[in-house]
Amino acid sequence: MATAEQIKSLIRSHFSDQSEQFFTVALQMAAHEARQGHDALANDIRILVDKAKVRPARVVAFIPDLENLVLTSEPRERLGSLVLSDEMRARIERILREFRQKAKLEKHGLTHRRKILLAGPPGTGKTLTAAVLAGELNLPLYTILMDKIVTRFMGETSAKLRQIFDVIQERRGVYLFDEFDAIGGERSRVDDVGEMRRVLNSFLQFIEHDSSDSLIVAATNNPKILDQALFRRFDDVLHYQLPEKGEIERLIENRLGSFRQKSIMLDASVNMALSLSHAEIAQACDDAIKEAILTDRKNVTATLLKQMLQERRSAYHAPIKG
Ligand SMILES: Nc1ncnc2c1ncn2[C@@H]1O[C@H](COP(=O)(O)OP(=O)(O)O)[C@@H](O)[C@H]1O
Ligand SMILES: [Mg+2]
Repeated sequence: MATAEQIKSLIRSHFSDQSEQFFTVALQMAAHEARQGHDALANDIRILVDKAKVRPARVVAFIPDLENLVLTSEPRERLGSLVLSDEMRARIERILREFRQKAKLEKHGLTHRRKILLAGPPGTGKTLTAAVLAGELNLPLYTILMDKIVTRFMGETSAKLRQIFDVIQERRGVYLFDEFDAIGGERSRVDDVGEMRRVLNSFLQFIEHDSSDSLIVAATNNPKILDQALFRRFDDVLHYQLPEKGEIERLIENRLGSFRQKSIMLDASVNMALSLSHAEIAQACDDAIKEAILTDRKNVTATLLKQMLQERRSAYHAPIKG
């Protein structure tokens, strides 16, 4: 049977609507049952969790003429699923606080921050942050597929963008322009460069003139575009960075959950994870969990974790020397 702590934790996370936490505890219970030799029950729990997790993105709104250009979802992500420095967390909390209390600010002639630029290397949580903002504010998340707009509507992209900004005005939500500057990146025709610059300029102008109730989030992996002209258009610019030691440790602990060996020493793993992104470390942890499951081990040892981190390092980076 599940432990008393697990049952209490399950109930708590249900009523506080923390679905990620709920899933984690459920999987911990499955692992616990597996350890007791109750494999069928463990398996049943895992299947239930997997099924519950694939919640088809409900089409919150049908946007005429813009189908396939805008993805709609209702994220459940919470701030707790993001591992960030204290400073970054405070910045995100401030966005949430201002959004929730915008009426109070308005009374004093002030506006809340609602045009946000997220910049930093890939895999550090920018896309996840947009989902967290939507999840925390209980708003739908609309992801605008800029590259599709550019390739499908060559020459009339500004008109399409205008349509999107009309929707932003009409329909409150979190609007994510993910990797917005990567549009047309793989194309090499000379006049595409001009088109891309035009698109970027009209995008920035639309942002500047927007006065909707929605939250506009633009994300870029490319710090080179961060010039003053760009900063000016946004109410806030958040710089994402590769995780430092403390963050790496929290990320590993979160990710391993019940598969974390109680006595595991993380120091060597943390050192090995330096210079990897959050996403790469999360993947290494998932790889280690899978390996543990498939080799019938009850949890992830330091050796296994280090092996998986090393694989990630050599997949994307030069291996450690010496
Ligand atoms: N700061 C973070 N905290 C926790 N998990 C993270 C973080 N950054 C990335 N991840 C993990 O990696 C995945 C991909 O990250 P993503 O948000 O797409 O990165 P980016 O948009 O910056 O390239 C996330 O869904 C999450 O599982
Ligand atoms: Mg991203």
